Amino acid sequence: MKRKVGITETLFRDAHQSLLATRLKLEDMLEVVELLDQVGFYSFEVWGGATFDSCLRYLNEDPWERLRILRKHLPKTKLQMLLRGQNLVGYRQYPDDVVDAFVEKSVENGIDIIRIFDALNDIRNLERSIIATKKAGALAQAAIVYTVSPVHDIQGYIKLAQELEQIGVDSICIKDMAGILAPGIARELVTGLKEKVNLPIQLHSHYTSGLASMTYWESIQAGADYVDTALSPLALGTSQPPTESIIAALTDTDFDTGLDLTLLAEVNRKLNQVLSNNYKRPPITVNTEVLISQIPGGMLSNLKAQLEQQKLGHKYNDILAEVPKVRKDMGYPPLVTPMSQIVGTQSVLNVVTGERYKVKTKEIRDYVKGLYGRSPVPIDPKIQKLLIEDEEPLTVRPADLLEPGLDKAKKEIKDFISQDEDVLSYILFPEVAKKFFEKRKQSRK
Ligand code: CO
Repeated sequence: MKRKVGITETLFRDAHQSLLATRLKLEDMLEVVELLDQVGFYSFEVWGGATFDSCLRYLNEDPWERLRILRKHLPKTKLQMLLRGQNLVGYRQYPDDVVDAFVEKSVENGIDIIRIFDALNDIRNLERSIIATKKAGALAQAAIVYTVSPVHDIQGYIKLAQELEQIGVDSICIKDMAGILAPGIARELVTGLKEKVNLPIQLHSHYTSGLASMTYWESIQAGADYVDTALSPLALGTSQPPTESIIAALTDTDFDTGLDLTLLAEVNRKLNQVLSNNYKRPPITVNTEVLISQIPGGMLSNLKAQLEQQKLGHKYNDILAEVPKVRKDMGYPPLVTPMSQIVGTQSVLNVVTGERYKVKTKEIRDYVKGLYGRSPVPIDPKIQKLLIEDEEPLTVRPADLLEPGLDKAKKEIKDFISQDEDVLSYILFPEVAKKFFEKRKQSRK
């Protein structure tokens, strides 16, 4: 049976987040944006994830303005963003009024599809933003964070997808941030999802370990409807499989995408020029270590940079060995933002101090207290005691404890605001946003 497979192009979000530390500037995107609108992608991921933080912190760009400009230049293509559930595009949980407003403004400024995930696959952390997305009139895609551990299995992921279907999501994404989903497992997982869940299925993988293209092929055969790819100038390595190769692999099969490779070649000529002039692309490598350690590529490079900064490069291998132990102690959380940072930082401390959990970060204590959500399996009582002594972990949804945040923030920042969205930028990244607002004020004088 013929079934057209849809392509989500990740060039303006995950591809440069993975290969260029999220530094792609709007002005460079605009060099190729009009051509990209002609391609006919199912969707174009352009916003969310780390791009919001990076715009304000490094690029002196207003992320909201970026979104509006991209929307204007991409009238034909569905725009997609990545949202970290109750953490939005930040690193901690936000109250419901902030979640509602952030989602509403994202859609108002041009987003059509919001992909929503929670690092712990805790459905309580997804529900509010899913409902807000539907209310705002956009498509809500829930992402299941894929990881390998003794406590994760295909049946668990299928059960999670069924629960998400109950909430009313429009599609399900399998989010393989580490690029460790093997082709045969993917076939089994997609087949199971298609049997048990009546929703479109999307595959999101990273090329890190060299598996992703094979995984996509098997997933598509098993019924996957959409796959995430990146144009070849920013594909492979820790980014996605190349868009052009996936299109070519599917051409004249039952799953033909119908997309035009010659148009993409034209985009690439321009794109390569822009990238060569203004950016330093890393060499393309295959990291097979990830297949053993399950540590995502982004986390590895962050750890390495962190250690070199602190002149601890020689401890790298010890820390690499400590990460899976801390992960086990924590009930096997998937290593994705913010868990990758929490587990990574604690692993560094455990090795550097020479005594495990002698020094504990606030974040890992909060995690054990349940402030980030439920761990995949309960944490060993001995470890719990070591981290939070006799404190009782939460049993309610973490965001239920948060006071509303909008009105308070509005008062705090009223002298700097030039659009409603500024309050949200400020709530997410208070210091960074304030600095950005100050600069903006100066430049307007
Ligand atoms: Co990704």
